[in-house]
Amino acid sequence: MNKKSVRDLDVKGKRVLVRVDFNVPVKDGEVTDDTRIRRALPTIKHLLSEGARLALVSHLGRPKGEPDPEYAMDPVARRLEELLGAPVHKLDTAVGSEVGEALENLPEGGVVLLENSRFYPGETKNDPGFSERLAEPFDLYVDDAFGAAHRAHATTVGVAERLPGAAGLLIEEELDNLDDVLGEPERPFVAILGGAKVSDKLGVIESLLGVADALLIGGAMCFTFFKAQGYEVGKSLVEDDYVEEAKRLLDEAGDRLVLPVDIVVADKMEEGVAAETVGVDGVPSGKMGLDIGPEAVERFRDHISDAKTIFWNGPMGVFEIDAFAKGTEGVARAVAEASVGGGAKSIVGGGDSVAAVAKLGVEDQMSFISTGGGASLEYVEGKELPGIAVLPGKGT
Ligand code: 3PG
Repeated sequence: MNKKSVRDLDVKGKRVLVRVDFNVPVKDGEVTDDTRIRRALPTIKHLLSEGARLALVSHLGRPKGEPDPEYAMDPVARRLEELLGAPVHKLDTAVGSEVGEALENLPEGGVVLLENSRFYPGETKNDPGFSERLAEPFDLYVDDAFGAAHRAHATTVGVAERLPGAAGLLIEEELDNLDDVLGEPERPFVAILGGAKVSDKLGVIESLLGVADALLIGGAMCFTFFKAQGYEVGKSLVEDDYVEEAKRLLDEAGDRLVLPVDIVVADKMEEGVAAETVGVDGVPSGKMGLDIGPEAVERFRDHISDAKTIFWNGPMGVFEIDAFAKGTEGVARAVAEASVGGGAKSIVGGGDSVAAVAKLGVEDQMSFISTGGGASLEYVEGKELPGIAVLPGKGT
């Protein structure tokens, strides 16, 4: 990483604002997946052990710029307290005198959690006045919110422009792993993309085709490619405006772009519907494709088992419904086997593929699981992430 690291900061006794990505699922007042909280612990523990006085800030969900109890940070504070094994005082505000007072009363090595930054309209607008108020009680800023680094918001950019700061350990780990893939990956390098829309992943497809030996495409977005190849796709999701783009990509990539040879179809996307597997040239006009088929999984597995580097983002089908989960599960198993048995370096990003890996219990078998969905894709696409770009460089 070519950014200044939190390890380079002298934080003893300093008031440090840490931007974390604690945007975690919450149900009935409980955090149901604490991965992002756990992944921020190394930076938090490092700063606490060095004697900093910490305030953590994050967004949670997408409230509309005003307080909304559904998105309050209290469940996150409770979980963080359990994981840290130390008290975490949660404030009901992210700015104002209450924050300054809490910091005054905080011992060295103590931590508070601020309220959801998206309870303020200035957050997503990166409003200068709001950024000023956020920065006001602090000496230093540390950004460890890789998952939010593609957002130019007050807590990721505005406040970073107003305080001396550095990148946290999670950001460092994320960038180092993604740079390994984008730089000089050990070959063969196999990339796997899924998800609904070609339009969302066009940049990433182009970028990966520039570096990968094979790009395996599943998920509903393969139907836009099938339409470009002249197949009947029935009621499957297709982006007609992108069929020409898909044709161009197929021409340019040749056999490096690998599509499924069979798919699982049904009348509708619903639990309990009758599903059948058909060849790509046999999709009935009244049916929609909802997963890749078993033969496709086998062919994808052949590529994956040869790979020395693997990047995977996006599910192969509607994996929340059991009848359409086998493609994603098959790919997850193949990636796990290639990583453990074959010694491949595997990087998994994106909420759904990460959830699939967790559902199968093969997380530990992946080399690296990114905490950023959108952020990791934009990074792979070669876009500048505003939350990273704003941080001071190494040696500054
Ligand atoms: C995420 O969950 O991908 C990040 O926390 C960013 O959230 P957002 O898409 O609501 O900005």
